[in-house]
Amino acid sequence: MKVLIVGGGGREHAIAWKCSRSPKVDKLFAAPGNAGIAEVAECVDISVMDAEKLVAFAKKEAIDLAIIGPDDPLVAGVADCFIENGIRTFGPEKKAAIIEGSKAFSKELMKKYKIPSAASETFSDPESALKYLETANMPIVLKADGLALGKGVLICNTLEEAKSGVKTLMLDRQFGKAGDTIVIEEFLTGREVSVLCFCDGKTIKPMTSAQDHKRAKDGDQGLNTGGMGTFSPSPFYTKEIDDYCKKHIYQPTIDAMHAEGRDFKGILFCGLMLTEDGPKVLEYNARFGDPEAQVVIPRMKNDMIDVMEACIDGRLEEIDLAFEENAAVCVVLVSYEKGFVIHGLENFRDKDGYYVFHAGTKKTEQGVVTNGGRVLGVTAKGADLFEARANAYKATEWINFDNKYLRHDIGKAIDEQ
Ligand code: AMP
Ligand code: GLY
Repeated sequence: MKVLIVGGGGREHAIAWKCSRSPKVDKLFAAPGNAGIAEVAECVDISVMDAEKLVAFAKKEAIDLAIIGPDDPLVAGVADCFIENGIRTFGPEKKAAIIEGSKAFSKELMKKYKIPSAASETFSDPESALKYLETANMPIVLKADGLALGKGVLICNTLEEAKSGVKTLMLDRQFGKAGDTIVIEEFLTGREVSVLCFCDGKTIKPMTSAQDHKRAKDGDQGLNTGGMGTFSPSPFYTKEIDDYCKKHIYQPTIDAMHAEGRDFKGILFCGLMLTEDGPKVLEYNARFGDPEAQVVIPRMKNDMIDVMEACIDGRLEEIDLAFEENAAVCVVLVSYEKGFVIHGLENFRDKDGYYVFHAGTKKTEQGVVTNGGRVLGVTAKGADLFEARANAYKATEWINFDNKYLRHDIGKAIDEQ
């Protein structure tokens, strides 16, 4: 079959790598893809948001399955355009992707269906938001309702900070209309875990767990980023917690979406906080996490095409999701400048259990160069988290480019188990 992957980040490289190993796939395309994806797929220069061109390309190539990776096109309804044109598509329709696209929507859903989450209120005018803050406990969390590149969440320690946060989001409109409505919610403490689940509209099956490292600098300092590294599984996400989440979070969420006439088919990413009062939902995403995908997908035993097709056809119940009994760690290499030649990519060729997933890279006459932000995700497996972490950090040494930056404490939490 012919498969088209929409996206060009590390997540889509992990998806493309996995699809390339499926005996069912004859030809793989990616739009726009990147220099790494180009090794397993033919990349076509179409933006992830250009639904018209994407669909025209898919029709011309008689694509059998389209997989949509990133949040922006899903929230904008790109999956709907594929589906309306008769193309089998993995990824939720717009009416379901709203679970990520609007935090006000997802908080209302959780309240209505009693899914454990932080207590919250939603505001569309700054006056009432400011008034509410006067009586609220600190720290407190402000969230822009809409998509804001993972940066629309402000954790405020004092009333002054919170007031200035309301100003940033609602008056200065730092994230444009994404901040016209905000959610103000209770600050939760505990360990964070990301659980990505396959969904077919009625059945939901969680994959192995992962933990992200969102802050830019060691010791969880600096600004929030898309994610600087991950490990999988999370040793804190026990069988008991998994059972609890299946009963009180995952299935109730998919049932709630069904009851609302918004059947969710695709990946539901549950960002959880394991609090003293049990697991609570911090956020939902409507897609694979990035870089969670880079540690979860390499450990997946199933042919991912089989699982995705089962989701599309409403047959997920028949699938036994299986993951290797090992661990994986991904360390993200970052560059704040573009155009530096990347050396050492060849060191990963034919090395079992080591992967280099491309994100911000570009192929030029000089070779593959940095193209801004998160450049590469270096993933390694190991028998356990300790071995995987040692392997991943060893492998980060195989890659060199000017001003290479990485966090040195990915997976530090495993020392605290
Ligand atoms: P989100 O985009 O909603 O996942 O938020 C980004 C990050 O902000 C999360 O990964 C958490 O680290 C933090 N966060 C979000 N909501 C809360 C909350 N209610 N309490 C504490 N931290 C939070
Ligand atoms: N790594 C977090 C996310 O993909 O949203």
